[in-house]
Amino acid sequence: MSSKRFPEFGLSLDQLRTLQFERLRETLRHAYANQAPYRAKCAAAGVSPDDLRSLDDLRRFPFTAKSDLRDAYPYGMFAIPREKCVRVHASSGTTGRPTVVGYSAKDIATWGNLMARSLYAGGARPGDIIHNAYGYGLFTGGLGAHYGAEALGCTVVPMSGGFSERQVQLIREFGARVVLMTPSYMLALADEFDRQGIDPRKTSMKVGIFGAEPWTEAMRAEIERRLGIDAVDIYGLSEVMGPGVACEFVETKDGPTIWEDHFYPEIVDPETGEPVAEGEPGELVFTSLTKEAMPVVRYRTRDLTRLMAGSRTVMRRMAKITGRSDDMLKVGGIWCSPVEIESCLIGHPAVLEAAVVGQADGEDLIKPKAHVVLKQAGSGSDALTAELMTLCKKTLAPYKYPRWIEYVAELPKTATGKIQRFKLRA
Ligand code: DLL
Repeated sequence: MSSKRFPEFGLSLDQLRTLQFERLRETLRHAYANQAPYRAKCAAAGVSPDDLRSLDDLRRFPFTAKSDLRDAYPYGMFAIPREKCVRVHASSGTTGRPTVVGYSAKDIATWGNLMARSLYAGGARPGDIIHNAYGYGLFTGGLGAHYGAEALGCTVVPMSGGFSERQVQLIREFGARVVLMTPSYMLALADEFDRQGIDPRKTSMKVGIFGAEPWTEAMRAEIERRLGIDAVDIYGLSEVMGPGVACEFVETKDGPTIWEDHFYPEIVDPETGEPVAEGEPGELVFTSLTKEAMPVVRYRTRDLTRLMAGSRTVMRRMAKITGRSDDMLKVGGIWCSPVEIESCLIGHPAVLEAAVVGQADGEDLIKPKAHVVLKQAGSGSDALTAELMTLCKKTLAPYKYPRWIEYVAELPKTATGKIQRFKLRA
């Protein structure tokens, strides 16, 4: 597929690999010369940028972990003088303390273009009114989407999160064609439309571009049915840039296409760090190819997924995130994703939200425990608990059911709505 506005969609595989290699070599040189912590890691591993002779050689270079960014808090990973950074953001702290990222003016422009590309792929067009309900502030969602929508030539309504009643009012009165927010917030707004007695299917909304948290095909189907829109998946993370690292095409909705001309993806075994065979699942690792202020080499995202061949372009796609490697549970020696159990629980009509973590049983073996928020507070019962356990056993696998279910009023979340499972671990 090629497009006048986004010629990169038309790159051939040869052109893409050549571009990636050139950019990768530059990035390694830049990181090695200007990021003392990464240079030290390379020295310890006995490699230097000259050892990169092909894209495959990247696997010889050390990883960057979230802990490396924390150790360098706040500015130690900046590869340009702090004075040349025009902005900082901080990650949301799903797994503990936040990390800081910096951007040069060029990085902000690149991000705007990639986010414009993402919105275009997702179905937005120049001239559209875009209602942006991603949170503005340290979180990359709000400002990242905002600059992208402006770069594409849209009219942005910078709504930010919260104030559901007003969200509904402005979506209707300002005539948004495209809405941007987390998928769970879209479902909460669907409830708000119902509460106000308004049919969301009759508004001007046509497309929603949703991300910042894991969601399932079942949620996509529910959003599309209730709101009457196309629901598209967008992925990103602050350490690598922010939203717009990958986005689905509205025509295919077959997994986000990774903008590989700017981010080189790998999938590794989360335990050994070894690259897995093509198409196999594992932990997603990114190397930025064009970042100035804070390049990242082999950054371990902790997100579990697999890579798929490109469909609309030669750039590869990623499958839906099935969980985070640091949240994974080993039950009876078999890996089990909390997200999988949570999605199954949410499928029950009484359940609003769920978070699953590991808990030791009487024999000190780790088993899944679910924290469940019900649509009708206080309606938890032994009968419901038994029903939910049976649902998981039947839908997933006999060992993948929560051994304990605790009914709670709400789940611990970051300001941007991501579940903080670490707070639920005893
Ligand atoms: O959530 C950036 C973003 C904003 C993406 C708006 C999309 C839309 P962080 O706060 O650093 O950045 O969180 C990044 O969120 O490692 C994933 O675990 C999760 N995540 C983001 N997008 C998706 C998605 C933003 N589409 C972390 N599906 C990532 C599943 C997602 N998980």
